[in-house]
Amino acid sequence: MIPNEDINQIRSKANIVDIISSYINLEPKGKNYFGLCPFHDDNNPSMSVSPEKQIYTCFVCGASGNVFSFVQDYENVTFPESVKAVANKIGYNLNIDVKTKRVNEKYFEILDIASKYYINNLNSKDGNSARKYLNNRNLSDEIINTFKIGVAFSDNNLSKLLTQKGYTINDLTTIGLSGEGYSIYDIFQNKIIFPITNERGEVIAFSGRIYNNEEGNKYVNSKESIIFKKGNVLYNYDKAKSEVNKKKEVYVVEGFLDAIKMHSIGVKNVVATMGTALTKEHTSLLKKLNAKIILLFDNDDAGEKSTLSAGEEMLKANLDVHVVRLSGEKDPDDYIVNKGEVKFKDALKETISFFDFKINYLRKSKDLNQSKDLANYINTVIDELNKTDDEILRDVTINNLVEEFGVDKELILSKLTKNVKPIVIKPKPKKKVRLSANKKLSETVIYIMMQDVKYITRYEKDLGYIPDKVYNQIASDIVAFYKINKEFNIADFISFISESDSLDIVLRIINDNENTEPIYEEFDDYLNMIHKWIKSEQINNLKNSLKLETDANKRLEINDLIIKIKRESDL
Ligand code: UTP
Ligand code: MN
Repeated sequence: MIPNEDINQIRSKANIVDIISSYINLEPKGKNYFGLCPFHDDNNPSMSVSPEKQIYTCFVCGASGNVFSFVQDYENVTFPESVKAVANKIGYNLNIDVKTKRVNEKYFEILDIASKYYINNLNSKDGNSARKYLNNRNLSDEIINTFKIGVAFSDNNLSKLLTQKGYTINDLTTIGLSGEGYSIYDIFQNKIIFPITNERGEVIAFSGRIYNNEEGNKYVNSKESIIFKKGNVLYNYDKAKSEVNKKKEVYVVEGFLDAIKMHSIGVKNVVATMGTALTKEHTSLLKKLNAKIILLFDNDDAGEKSTLSAGEEMLKANLDVHVVRLSGEKDPDDYIVNKGEVKFKDALKETISFFDFKINYLRKSKDLNQSKDLANYINTVIDELNKTDDEILRDVTINNLVEEFGVDKELILSKLTKNVKPIVIKPKPKKKVRLSANKKLSETVIYIMMQDVKYITRYEKDLGYIPDKVYNQIASDIVAFYKINKEFNIADFISFISESDSLDIVLRIINDNENTEPIYEEFDDYLNMIHKWIKSEQINNLKNSLKLETDANKRLEINDLIIKIKRESDL
Protein backbone atom coordinates (compact mmCIF):
# COMPACT_ATOMS: atom_id res chain seq x y z
CA MET A 1 0.00 0.00 0.00
CA ILE A 2 1.27 3.44 -0.88
CA PRO A 3 0.46 5.94 1.91
CA ASN A 4 -2.19 8.48 1.01
CA GLU A 5 0.15 11.37 1.81
CA ASP A 6 2.52 10.13 -0.88
CA ILE A 7 -0.27 9.70 -3.38
CA ASN A 8 -1.52 13.22 -2.74
CA GLN A 9 1.98 14.72 -2.82
CA ILE A 10 2.81 13.04 -6.11
CA ARG A 11 -0.53 14.05 -7.59
CA SER A 12 -0.07 17.67 -6.61
CA LYS A 13 3.59 17.85 -7.68
CA ALA A 14 2.95 16.26 -11.08
CA ASN A 15 1.50 18.57 -13.67
CA ILE A 16 -0.99 16.54 -15.68
CA VAL A 17 -0.13 18.49 -18.84
CA ASP A 18 3.55 17.50 -18.58
CA ILE A 19 2.82 13.89 -17.80
CA ILE A 20 0.28 13.42 -20.60
CA SER A 21 2.62 15.27 -23.00
CA SER A 22 5.18 12.57 -22.38
CA TYR A 23 2.79 10.14 -24.05
CA ILE A 24 0.88 12.17 -26.61
CA ASN A 25 1.24 15.47 -28.34
CA LEU A 26 -0.73 18.30 -26.69
CA GLU A 27 -1.44 21.73 -28.12
CA PRO A 28 -2.61 24.65 -26.01
CA LYS A 29 -6.02 26.04 -26.91
CA GLY A 30 -7.69 28.53 -24.62
CA LYS A 31 -7.16 27.57 -21.03
CA ASN A 32 -6.92 23.86 -21.87
CA TYR A 33 -4.66 21.59 -23.93
CA PHE A 34 -5.84 19.30 -26.70
CA GLY A 35 -4.52 16.11 -28.25
CA LEU A 36 -5.56 12.93 -30.04
CA CYS A 37 -7.30 10.66 -27.57
CA PRO A 38 -5.26 7.45 -27.20
CA PHE A 39 -8.28 5.54 -25.92
CA HIS A 40 -10.27 5.40 -29.12
CA ASP A 41 -9.64 5.74 -32.87
CA ASP A 42 -9.27 9.47 -32.83
CA ASN A 43 -8.79 11.64 -35.91
CA ASN A 44 -9.44 15.06 -34.47
CA PRO A 45 -7.88 16.07 -31.19
CA SER A 46 -10.75 15.33 -28.87
CA MET A 47 -8.95 14.89 -25.59
CA SER A 48 -8.82 18.00 -23.48
CA VAL A 49 -6.48 18.37 -20.53
CA SER A 50 -7.19 20.97 -17.92
CA PRO A 51 -4.17 22.35 -16.05
CA GLU A 52 -6.54 24.13 -13.72
CA LYS A 53 -8.52 21.07 -12.68
CA GLN A 54 -5.66 18.63 -13.33
CA ILE A 55 -7.96 16.25 -15.17
CA TYR A 56 -8.41 15.09 -18.76
CA THR A 57 -11.57 14.38 -20.67
CA CYS A 58 -12.23 12.97 -24.12
CA PHE A 59 -15.41 14.51 -25.42
CA VAL A 60 -15.88 11.70 -27.94
CA CYS A 61 -15.31 8.48 -26.02
CA GLY A 62 -15.80 9.89 -22.55
CA ALA A 63 -12.44 8.72 -21.18
CA SER A 64 -11.71 10.93 -18.21
CA GLY A 65 -9.75 11.04 -14.99
CA ASN A 66 -6.64 12.34 -13.28
CA VAL A 67 -2.97 11.82 -13.96
CA PHE A 68 -2.98 8.36 -12.38
CA SER A 69 -5.94 7.05 -14.33
CA PHE A 70 -4.33 8.27 -17.54
CA VAL A 71 -1.11 6.36 -16.86
CA GLN A 72 -3.10 3.36 -15.67
CA ASP A 73 -5.13 3.14 -18.87
CA TYR A 74 -2.33 4.14 -21.21
CA GLU A 75 0.26 1.75 -19.83
CA ASN A 76 -2.28 -0.81 -18.77
CA VAL A 77 -0.98 -1.03 -15.21
CA THR A 78 -2.51 -1.14 -11.74
CA PHE A 79 -3.23 1.95 -9.66
CA PRO A 80 -0.10 1.60 -7.44
CA GLU A 81 2.04 1.06 -10.53
CA SER A 82 0.64 4.23 -12.06
CA VAL A 83 1.50 6.16 -8.88
CA LYS A 84 5.00 4.73 -9.02
CA ALA A 85 5.33 5.62 -12.71
CA VAL A 86 4.26 9.22 -12.12
CA ALA A 87 6.61 9.44 -9.12
CA ASN A 88 9.48 8.31 -11.34
CA LYS A 89 8.64 10.85 -13.99
CA ILE A 90 8.73 13.76 -11.56
CA GLY A 91 11.68 12.44 -9.58
CA TYR A 92 9.68 11.87 -6.41
CA ASN A 93 11.40 9.45 -4.11
CA LEU A 94 8.89 6.74 -3.32
CA ASN A 95 10.56 4.15 -1.15
CA ILE A 96 8.03 1.51 -1.81
CA ASP A 97 8.33 -1.52 -3.96
CA VAL A 98 4.99 -1.64 -5.70
CA LYS A 99 6.34 -4.37 -7.92
CA THR A 100 5.73 -7.07 -5.35
CA LYS A 101 2.04 -6.58 -5.87
CA ARG A 102 2.16 -7.82 -9.42
CA VAL A 103 0.77 -11.28 -10.04
CA ASN A 104 3.37 -12.24 -12.60
CA GLU A 105 6.22 -10.62 -10.79
CA LYS A 106 8.18 -13.80 -10.27
CA TYR A 107 8.26 -14.44 -14.00
CA PHE A 108 9.70 -10.99 -14.62
CA GLU A 109 12.29 -11.71 -11.94
CA ILE A 110 13.25 -15.03 -13.49
CA LEU A 111 13.62 -13.50 -16.96
CA ASP A 112 15.66 -10.66 -15.56
CA ILE A 113 18.06 -13.05 -13.88
CA ALA A 114 18.28 -15.13 -17.05
CA SER A 115 19.00 -12.06 -19.14
CA LYS A 116 21.86 -11.04 -16.86
CA TYR A 117 23.14 -14.58 -16.90
CA TYR A 118 23.30 -14.66 -20.72
CA ILE A 119 25.05 -11.28 -20.81
CA ASN A 120 27.55 -12.56 -18.31
CA ASN A 121 28.21 -15.58 -20.53
CA LEU A 122 28.95 -13.31 -23.44
CA ASN A 123 31.44 -11.39 -21.35
CA SER A 124 33.19 -14.56 -20.27
CA LYS A 125 36.02 -16.23 -22.15
CA ASP A 126 33.73 -18.89 -23.54
CA GLY A 127 31.67 -16.11 -25.05
CA ASN A 128 34.41 -15.18 -27.46
CA SER A 129 33.14 -17.01 -30.50
CA ALA A 130 29.67 -15.54 -30.01
CA ARG A 131 31.14 -12.07 -29.68
CA LYS A 132 33.15 -12.67 -32.81
CA TYR A 133 29.97 -13.61 -34.66
CA LEU A 134 28.27 -10.42 -33.49
CA ASN A 135 31.25 -8.26 -34.37
CA ASN A 136 31.38 -9.88 -37.79
CA ARG A 137 27.85 -8.77 -38.25
CA ASN A 138 29.00 -5.23 -37.48
CA LEU A 139 27.44 -5.07 -34.04
CA SER A 140 29.68 -3.03 -31.80
CA ASP A 141 30.15 -3.73 -28.10
CA GLU A 142 28.12 -0.63 -27.38
CA ILE A 143 25.17 -1.94 -29.38
CA ILE A 144 25.54 -5.35 -27.76
CA ASN A 145 25.20 -3.63 -24.39
CA THR A 146 22.31 -1.43 -25.43
CA PHE A 147 20.30 -4.38 -26.68
CA LYS A 148 21.44 -6.58 -23.80
CA ILE A 149 22.53 -9.31 -26.19
CA GLY A 150 23.93 -12.45 -24.55
CA VAL A 151 24.74 -16.04 -25.26
CA ALA A 152 23.54 -19.43 -24.06
CA PHE A 153 26.09 -22.22 -23.94
CA SER A 154 25.50 -25.93 -24.44
CA ASP A 155 24.66 -26.76 -20.87
CA ASN A 156 21.82 -26.72 -18.37
CA ASN A 157 23.39 -24.28 -15.97
CA LEU A 158 20.66 -21.65 -16.13
CA SER A 159 18.00 -24.12 -15.01
CA LYS A 160 20.31 -25.22 -12.20
CA LEU A 161 21.02 -21.67 -11.10
CA LEU A 162 17.36 -20.71 -11.05
CA THR A 163 16.24 -23.79 -9.13
CA GLN A 164 19.00 -23.11 -6.62
CA LYS A 165 17.55 -19.66 -6.21
CA GLY A 166 14.30 -21.30 -5.21
CA TYR A 167 12.22 -21.10 -8.37
CA THR A 168 10.24 -24.21 -9.13
CA ILE A 169 10.64 -26.37 -12.20
CA ASN A 170 7.07 -25.48 -12.99
CA ASP A 171 7.92 -21.75 -12.97
CA LEU A 172 10.82 -22.33 -15.35
CA THR A 173 8.89 -24.46 -17.81
CA THR A 174 5.91 -22.09 -17.70
CA ILE A 175 8.06 -19.18 -18.73
CA GLY A 176 9.79 -21.21 -21.44
CA LEU A 177 13.35 -21.31 -20.13
CA SER A 178 13.47 -24.98 -19.20
CA GLY A 179 12.13 -28.26 -20.44
CA GLU A 180 11.65 -31.45 -18.53
CA GLY A 181 12.80 -34.84 -19.79
CA TYR A 182 14.24 -37.33 -17.39
CA SER A 183 15.79 -34.26 -15.87
CA ILE A 184 15.40 -30.53 -16.25
CA TYR A 185 17.25 -28.92 -19.17
CA ASP A 186 17.85 -25.46 -20.67
CA ILE A 187 15.72 -24.65 -23.72
CA PHE A 188 18.17 -22.11 -25.09
CA GLN A 189 21.47 -23.74 -25.84
CA ASN A 190 24.29 -22.72 -28.11
CA LYS A 191 22.45 -19.58 -29.23
CA ILE A 192 23.01 -15.87 -29.34
CA ILE A 193 20.33 -14.49 -27.06
CA PHE A 194 18.24 -11.41 -27.77
CA PRO A 195 15.95 -10.38 -24.94
CA ILE A 196 12.50 -9.26 -25.99
CA THR A 197 11.06 -6.48 -23.86
CA ASN A 198 7.62 -5.06 -23.26
CA GLU A 199 6.54 -1.42 -23.52
CA ARG A 200 8.19 -0.76 -20.18
CA GLY A 201 11.50 -2.32 -21.14
CA GLU A 202 11.06 -5.42 -18.99
CA VAL A 203 12.24 -8.72 -20.43
CA ILE A 204 9.26 -10.89 -21.36
CA ALA A 205 10.90 -13.50 -23.59
CA PHE A 206 14.05 -14.39 -25.50
CA SER A 207 14.91 -15.10 -29.07
CA GLY A 208 17.94 -17.27 -29.71
CA ARG A 209 19.87 -17.28 -32.97
CA ILE A 210 22.17 -20.07 -34.15
CA TYR A 211 25.65 -18.77 -34.67
CA ASN A 212 28.07 -21.55 -35.34
CA ASN A 213 26.83 -23.49 -38.32
CA GLU A 214 24.47 -25.53 -36.30
CA GLU A 215 21.51 -27.26 -37.96
CA GLY A 216 17.96 -26.17 -37.29
CA ASN A 217 15.79 -23.08 -37.30
CA LYS A 218 17.62 -19.80 -37.59
CA TYR A 219 15.76 -18.36 -34.61
CA VAL A 220 14.07 -20.03 -31.68
CA ASN A 221 11.74 -17.89 -29.56
CA SER A 222 10.45 -18.46 -26.05
CA LYS A 223 7.12 -20.21 -26.20
CA GLU A 224 4.12 -17.99 -25.58
CA SER A 225 3.25 -17.44 -21.94
CA ILE A 226 1.04 -15.27 -19.77
CA ILE A 227 3.43 -12.40 -20.28
CA PHE A 228 4.55 -13.07 -23.85
CA LYS A 229 2.31 -13.21 -26.91
CA LYS A 230 4.30 -12.99 -30.11
CA GLY A 231 1.55 -11.16 -31.95
CA ASN A 232 1.37 -8.47 -29.25
CA VAL A 233 5.02 -7.53 -29.35
CA LEU A 234 6.86 -4.99 -31.40
CA TYR A 235 10.57 -5.45 -30.85
CA ASN A 236 12.38 -2.28 -29.71
CA TYR A 237 9.09 -0.46 -28.99
CA ASP A 238 10.31 0.68 -25.57
CA LYS A 239 13.52 2.18 -26.89
CA ALA A 240 11.96 3.65 -30.02
CA LYS A 241 9.17 5.56 -28.28
CA SER A 242 10.96 8.76 -27.39
CA GLU A 243 12.67 9.03 -30.77
CA VAL A 244 9.35 8.45 -32.54
CA ASN A 245 7.91 11.22 -30.46
CA LYS A 246 10.59 13.57 -31.75
CA LYS A 247 10.59 12.46 -35.39
CA LYS A 248 6.84 11.82 -35.66
CA GLU A 249 7.70 8.84 -37.84
CA VAL A 250 8.24 5.19 -37.11
CA TYR A 251 9.79 2.53 -39.33
CA VAL A 252 8.34 -0.95 -39.12
CA VAL A 253 10.72 -3.73 -40.16
CA GLU A 254 10.43 -7.51 -40.22
CA GLY A 255 13.54 -8.70 -38.45
CA PHE A 256 14.83 -7.54 -35.11
CA LEU A 257 18.38 -7.49 -36.40
CA ASP A 258 17.19 -4.92 -38.90
CA ALA A 259 15.90 -2.82 -36.03
CA ILE A 260 19.16 -3.18 -34.11
CA LYS A 261 21.24 -2.29 -37.15
CA MET A 262 19.15 0.77 -37.96
CA HIS A 263 19.43 1.90 -34.36
CA SER A 264 23.19 1.52 -34.59
CA ILE A 265 23.40 3.99 -37.48
CA GLY A 266 21.20 6.49 -35.67
CA VAL A 267 17.78 5.61 -37.11
CA LYS A 268 16.34 4.85 -33.70
CA ASN A 269 12.66 5.29 -34.49
CA VAL A 270 12.26 1.70 -35.59
CA VAL A 271 10.29 -1.31 -34.37
CA ALA A 272 10.17 -4.87 -35.67
CA THR A 273 7.45 -7.47 -35.87
CA MET A 274 8.70 -10.87 -34.84
CA GLY A 275 8.27 -12.60 -38.17
CA THR A 276 4.49 -12.69 -37.87
CA ALA A 277 1.90 -10.93 -39.98
CA LEU A 278 0.80 -7.62 -38.57
CA THR A 279 -1.89 -8.07 -35.93
CA LYS A 280 -4.58 -5.80 -34.49
CA GLU A 281 -2.47 -5.50 -31.35
CA HIS A 282 0.47 -4.27 -33.39
CA THR A 283 -1.78 -1.73 -35.03
CA SER A 284 -3.01 -0.40 -31.74
CA LEU A 285 0.52 -0.21 -30.34
CA LEU A 286 1.52 1.79 -33.40
CA LYS A 287 -1.56 3.96 -33.11
CA LYS A 288 -0.46 4.95 -29.63
CA LEU A 289 2.75 6.37 -31.07
CA ASN A 290 0.73 8.98 -32.91
CA ALA A 291 3.20 9.09 -35.80
CA LYS A 292 3.50 8.45 -39.51
CA ILE A 293 4.09 4.75 -40.17
CA ILE A 294 6.72 3.71 -42.70
CA LEU A 295 6.66 0.05 -43.68
CA LEU A 296 10.13 -1.20 -44.50
CA PHE A 297 9.70 -4.90 -45.08
CA ASP A 298 12.06 -7.36 -46.75
CA ASN A 299 12.77 -7.06 -50.43
CA ASP A 300 11.09 -10.27 -51.53
CA ASP A 301 7.63 -11.42 -52.60
CA ALA A 302 6.65 -12.22 -49.04
CA GLY A 303 7.75 -8.78 -47.91
CA GLU A 304 5.75 -7.15 -50.66
CA LYS A 305 2.62 -9.12 -49.79
CA SER A 306 3.06 -8.31 -46.09
CA THR A 307 3.41 -4.63 -46.97
CA LEU A 308 0.14 -4.81 -48.84
CA SER A 309 -1.82 -6.55 -46.08
CA ALA A 310 -0.22 -4.58 -43.24
CA GLY A 311 -0.92 -1.31 -45.07
CA GLU A 312 -4.58 -2.20 -45.60
CA GLU A 313 -4.92 -3.10 -41.94
CA MET A 314 -3.42 0.24 -40.90
CA LEU A 315 -5.55 2.27 -43.26
CA LYS A 316 -8.58 0.71 -41.62
CA ALA A 317 -7.25 1.98 -38.31
CA ASN A 318 -6.84 5.46 -39.81
CA LEU A 319 -3.07 5.40 -39.61
CA ASP A 320 -0.96 7.46 -41.96
CA VAL A 321 0.89 4.72 -43.85
CA HIS A 322 3.89 5.06 -46.11
CA VAL A 323 6.24 2.56 -47.68
CA VAL A 324 9.91 2.25 -48.48
CA ARG A 325 11.05 -0.58 -50.78
CA LEU A 326 14.73 -1.37 -50.83
CA SER A 327 16.14 -2.63 -54.07
CA GLY A 328 19.05 -4.96 -54.56
CA GLU A 329 19.39 -6.18 -50.97
CA LYS A 330 17.26 -8.52 -48.95
CA ASP A 331 16.62 -6.42 -45.86
CA PRO A 332 17.76 -3.25 -44.08
CA ASP A 333 20.58 -5.09 -42.35
CA ASP A 334 22.03 -6.44 -45.61
CA TYR A 335 21.54 -3.06 -47.26
CA ILE A 336 23.47 -1.25 -44.56
CA VAL A 337 26.23 -3.85 -44.54
CA ASN A 338 26.65 -4.08 -48.32
CA LYS A 339 25.82 -0.59 -49.55
CA GLY A 340 26.65 1.45 -46.49
CA GLU A 341 24.94 3.80 -44.14
CA VAL A 342 24.78 6.76 -46.51
CA LYS A 343 23.09 4.90 -49.36
CA PHE A 344 20.68 3.36 -46.88
CA LYS A 345 19.68 6.73 -45.50
CA ASP A 346 19.21 7.97 -49.07
CA ALA A 347 16.95 5.02 -49.75
CA LEU A 348 14.86 5.98 -46.75
CA LYS A 349 14.18 9.31 -48.39
CA GLU A 350 12.37 7.51 -51.21
CA THR A 351 9.27 7.06 -49.08
CA ILE A 352 6.06 6.70 -51.07
CA SER A 353 2.47 6.76 -49.88
CA PHE A 354 0.80 3.44 -49.36
CA PHE A 355 -1.62 4.36 -52.13
CA ASP A 356 1.20 4.75 -54.64
CA PHE A 357 2.74 1.53 -53.47
CA LYS A 358 -0.50 -0.24 -54.07
CA ILE A 359 -1.05 1.21 -57.53
CA ASN A 360 2.49 0.21 -58.51
CA TYR A 361 1.91 -3.23 -57.14
CA LEU A 362 -1.29 -3.67 -59.14
CA ARG A 363 0.50 -2.50 -62.21
CA LYS A 364 3.39 -4.89 -61.97
CA SER A 365 1.24 -7.96 -62.33
CA LYS A 366 -0.32 -6.73 -65.57
CA ASP A 367 0.81 -6.31 -69.18
CA LEU A 368 -0.43 -2.82 -69.88
CA ASN A 369 0.12 -3.22 -73.61
CA GLN A 370 -2.78 -5.63 -73.65
CA SER A 371 -5.98 -3.64 -73.75
CA LYS A 372 -7.76 -6.15 -71.55
CA ASP A 373 -5.10 -5.89 -68.84
CA LEU A 374 -5.02 -2.11 -69.19
CA ALA A 375 -8.80 -1.83 -68.79
CA ASN A 376 -8.55 -4.10 -65.82
CA TYR A 377 -5.82 -1.99 -64.28
CA ILE A 378 -7.68 1.28 -64.79
CA ASN A 379 -10.81 -0.18 -63.24
CA THR A 380 -8.85 -1.32 -60.21
CA VAL A 381 -7.31 2.11 -59.79
CA ILE A 382 -10.79 3.64 -59.96
CA ASP A 383 -11.92 1.15 -57.29
CA GLU A 384 -9.05 2.29 -55.10
CA LEU A 385 -9.83 5.94 -55.72
CA ASN A 386 -13.38 5.29 -54.66
CA LYS A 387 -12.05 4.21 -51.31
CA THR A 388 -10.15 7.40 -50.63
CA ASP A 389 -11.38 10.76 -49.45
CA ASP A 390 -8.28 12.56 -50.58
CA GLU A 391 -9.38 14.85 -53.43
CA ILE A 392 -5.90 15.92 -54.42
CA LEU A 393 -4.72 12.35 -54.62
CA ARG A 394 -7.71 11.59 -56.81
CA ASP A 395 -7.01 14.50 -59.13
CA VAL A 396 -3.34 13.65 -59.53
CA THR A 397 -4.02 9.98 -60.16
CA ILE A 398 -6.73 10.68 -62.74
CA ASN A 399 -4.52 13.13 -64.60
CA ASN A 400 -1.76 10.53 -64.67
CA LEU A 401 -4.09 7.96 -66.16
CA VAL A 402 -5.25 10.45 -68.79
CA GLU A 403 -1.72 11.42 -69.68
CA GLU A 404 -0.17 8.00 -69.67
CA PHE A 405 -2.85 5.97 -71.38
CA GLY A 406 -4.93 8.60 -73.16
CA VAL A 407 -8.06 7.54 -71.36
CA ASP A 408 -11.00 9.90 -71.56
CA LYS A 409 -11.09 11.96 -68.37
CA GLU A 410 -14.87 12.27 -68.41
CA LEU A 411 -15.16 8.53 -68.60
CA ILE A 412 -13.06 8.10 -65.48
CA LEU A 413 -14.92 10.80 -63.65
CA SER A 414 -18.23 9.19 -64.53
CA LYS A 415 -17.00 6.01 -62.93
CA LEU A 416 -16.09 7.66 -59.68
CA THR A 417 -18.94 7.14 -57.31
CA LYS A 418 -17.64 9.54 -54.77
CA ASN A 419 -17.31 13.02 -56.09
CA VAL A 420 -17.47 14.13 -52.53
CA LYS A 421 -15.56 16.68 -50.54
CA PRO A 422 -13.07 15.25 -48.10
CA ILE A 423 -14.98 14.01 -45.15
CA VAL A 424 -14.51 16.04 -42.05
CA ILE A 425 -15.03 13.80 -39.11
CA LYS A 426 -16.96 15.67 -36.52
CA PRO A 427 -16.79 14.44 -32.99
CA LYS A 428 -19.87 12.46 -32.17
CA PRO A 429 -22.05 14.38 -29.77
CA LYS A 430 -21.38 13.04 -26.36
CA LYS A 431 -24.11 10.67 -25.28
CA LYS A 432 -26.12 12.76 -22.87
CA VAL A 433 -27.55 10.66 -20.15
CA ARG A 434 -31.19 11.55 -19.70
CA LEU A 435 -31.70 12.10 -16.05
CA SER A 436 -34.86 12.29 -14.02
CA ALA A 437 -35.47 15.63 -12.30
CA ASN A 438 -34.35 14.28 -8.93
CA LYS A 439 -31.18 12.80 -10.32
CA LYS A 440 -30.35 16.03 -12.11
CA LEU A 441 -30.97 17.86 -8.87
CA SER A 442 -28.61 15.55 -6.95
CA GLU A 443 -25.93 15.96 -9.57
CA THR A 444 -26.20 19.72 -9.48
CA VAL A 445 -25.83 19.73 -5.72
CA ILE A 446 -22.83 17.41 -5.92
CA TYR A 447 -21.24 19.53 -8.62
CA ILE A 448 -21.64 22.73 -6.60
CA MET A 449 -20.17 21.01 -3.53
CA MET A 450 -17.10 20.15 -5.58
CA GLN A 451 -16.63 23.75 -6.68
CA ASP A 452 -16.55 25.46 -3.32
CA VAL A 453 -16.07 23.96 0.11
CA LYS A 454 -18.56 26.28 1.75
CA TYR A 455 -21.29 24.27 0.03
CA ILE A 456 -19.89 21.07 1.49
CA THR A 457 -20.43 22.53 4.94
CA ARG A 458 -23.90 23.76 4.00
CA TYR A 459 -24.85 20.36 2.66
CA GLU A 460 -23.66 18.63 5.77
CA LYS A 461 -25.43 21.05 8.09
CA ASP A 462 -28.72 21.48 6.23
CA LEU A 463 -29.32 18.14 4.55
CA GLY A 464 -26.71 15.41 4.98
CA TYR A 465 -28.61 12.81 3.02
CA ILE A 466 -29.79 12.17 -0.53
CA PRO A 467 -32.43 9.48 -0.98
CA ASP A 468 -30.49 7.77 -3.75
CA LYS A 469 -27.85 5.26 -2.76
CA VAL A 470 -25.28 6.28 -5.38
CA TYR A 471 -25.56 10.05 -4.99
CA ASN A 472 -25.71 9.78 -1.23
CA GLN A 473 -22.46 7.85 -1.29
CA ILE A 474 -20.77 10.45 -3.48
CA ALA A 475 -21.95 13.32 -1.30
CA SER A 476 -20.76 11.49 1.83
CA ASP A 477 -17.42 10.82 0.16
CA ILE A 478 -17.04 14.52 -0.59
CA VAL A 479 -17.80 15.37 3.03
CA ALA A 480 -15.37 12.70 4.26
CA PHE A 481 -12.64 13.85 1.88
CA TYR A 482 -13.05 17.44 3.02
CA LYS A 483 -12.88 16.42 6.69
CA ILE A 484 -9.62 14.59 6.11
CA ASN A 485 -7.91 17.10 3.84
CA LYS A 486 -9.43 20.38 5.03
CA GLU A 487 -9.66 21.37 1.39
CA PHE A 488 -11.16 20.00 -1.77
CA ASN A 489 -9.76 19.49 -5.23
CA ILE A 490 -11.15 17.28 -7.93
CA ALA A 491 -7.92 15.61 -8.99
CA ASP A 492 -7.18 14.30 -5.50
CA PHE A 493 -10.79 13.40 -4.92
CA ILE A 494 -10.60 11.17 -8.00
CA SER A 495 -7.76 9.23 -6.40
CA PHE A 496 -9.71 9.11 -3.15
CA ILE A 497 -12.63 7.34 -4.82
CA SER A 498 -10.60 5.59 -7.52
CA GLU A 499 -11.53 2.14 -6.28
CA SER A 500 -15.24 2.83 -6.07
CA ASP A 501 -18.00 2.52 -8.65
CA SER A 502 -18.95 6.16 -8.26
CA LEU A 503 -15.83 7.39 -10.08
CA ASP A 504 -17.43 7.27 -13.53
CA ILE A 505 -20.48 9.14 -12.31
CA VAL A 506 -18.38 11.84 -10.65
CA LEU A 507 -16.40 12.35 -13.85
CA ARG A 508 -19.59 12.56 -15.87
CA ILE A 509 -21.08 15.08 -13.45
CA ILE A 510 -18.01 17.30 -13.85
CA ASN A 511 -18.17 17.10 -17.63
CA ASP A 512 -21.91 17.58 -17.91
CA ASN A 513 -21.94 20.64 -15.72
CA GLU A 514 -18.80 22.26 -16.99
CA ASN A 515 -20.41 24.11 -19.88
CA THR A 516 -23.64 24.96 -18.14
CA GLU A 517 -22.52 26.31 -14.81
CA PRO A 518 -25.26 25.84 -12.24
CA ILE A 519 -26.64 28.74 -10.29
CA TYR A 520 -24.85 28.75 -6.97
CA GLU A 521 -27.32 31.17 -5.36
CA GLU A 522 -29.98 28.53 -5.70
CA PHE A 523 -28.08 25.98 -3.68
CA ASP A 524 -30.44 26.36 -0.71
CA ASP A 525 -33.44 25.90 -2.96
CA TYR A 526 -31.86 22.74 -4.30
CA LEU A 527 -31.38 21.43 -0.79
CA ASN A 528 -35.02 22.24 -0.03
CA MET A 529 -36.10 20.35 -3.09
CA ILE A 530 -34.11 17.32 -2.02
CA HIS A 531 -35.68 17.69 1.38
CA LYS A 532 -39.09 17.49 -0.24
CA TRP A 533 -37.94 14.50 -2.18
CA ILE A 534 -36.97 12.78 1.07
CA LYS A 535 -40.38 13.53 2.49
CA SER A 536 -42.24 12.28 -0.56
CA GLU A 537 -40.19 9.09 -0.38
CA GLN A 538 -41.32 8.72 3.22
CA ILE A 539 -44.92 9.25 2.17
CA ASN A 540 -44.58 6.67 -0.56
CA ASN A 541 -43.24 4.19 1.92
CA LEU A 542 -46.07 4.89 4.30
CA LYS A 543 -48.62 4.53 1.51
CA ASN A 544 -47.15 1.17 0.66
CA SER A 545 -47.42 -0.02 4.21
CA LEU A 546 -50.96 1.28 4.30
CA LYS A 547 -51.88 -1.09 1.49
CA LEU A 548 -50.66 -4.04 3.54
CA GLU A 549 -52.03 -2.93 6.90
CA THR A 550 -55.33 -4.57 7.96
CA ASP A 551 -55.60 -3.24 11.51
CA ALA A 552 -57.99 -0.26 11.38
CA ASN A 553 -56.30 1.66 14.19
CA LYS A 554 -52.89 1.32 12.70
CA ARG A 555 -54.28 2.46 9.36
CA LEU A 556 -55.59 5.59 11.01
CA GLU A 557 -52.20 6.22 12.60
CA ILE A 558 -50.40 5.89 9.29
CA ASN A 559 -52.89 8.15 7.59
CA ASP A 560 -52.37 10.82 10.24
CA LEU A 561 -48.64 10.58 9.81
CA ILE A 562 -48.93 11.02 6.05
CA ILE A 563 -51.07 14.13 6.51
CA LYS A 564 -48.63 15.50 9.04
CA ILE A 565 -45.60 15.04 6.79
CA LYS A 566 -47.44 16.55 3.84
CA ARG A 567 -48.41 19.61 5.85
CA GLU A 568 -44.94 20.08 7.31
CA SER A 569 -43.16 19.87 4.04
CA ASP A 570 -45.63 21.72 1.89
CA LEU A 571 -46.37 18.80 -0.40
P1 UTP B 1 14.52 -13.06 -41.23
O1 UTP B 1 14.83 -14.41 -41.74
O2 UTP B 1 14.28 -11.96 -42.19
O3 UTP B 1 15.59 -12.68 -40.15
O4 UTP B 1 13.26 -13.18 -40.27
P2 UTP B 1 16.69 -11.57 -40.14
O5 UTP B 1 16.26 -10.47 -39.24
O6 UTP B 1 17.10 -11.20 -41.51
O7 UTP B 1 17.81 -12.35 -39.38
P3 UTP B 1 19.31 -12.53 -39.77
O8 UTP B 1 19.73 -11.24 -40.34
O9 UTP B 1 19.39 -13.66 -40.74
O10 UTP B 1 19.96 -12.87 -38.47
C1 UTP B 1 12.62 -12.06 -39.75
C2 UTP B 1 12.17 -12.34 -38.36
O11 UTP B 1 11.37 -13.51 -38.33
C3 UTP B 1 11.57 -14.23 -37.13
C4 UTP B 1 12.57 -13.44 -36.33
O12 UTP B 1 11.86 -12.60 -35.41
C5 UTP B 1 13.27 -12.60 -37.36
O13 UTP B 1 13.81 -11.41 -36.82
N1 UTP B 1 12.09 -15.58 -37.40
C6 UTP B 1 12.85 -15.84 -38.48
C7 UTP B 1 11.82 -16.59 -36.51
O14 UTP B 1 11.12 -16.39 -35.51
N2 UTP B 1 12.33 -17.86 -36.74
C8 UTP B 1 13.11 -18.12 -37.82
O15 UTP B 1 13.58 -19.26 -37.97
C9 UTP B 1 13.37 -17.08 -38.71
MN1 MN C 1 18.86 -10.22 -42.00
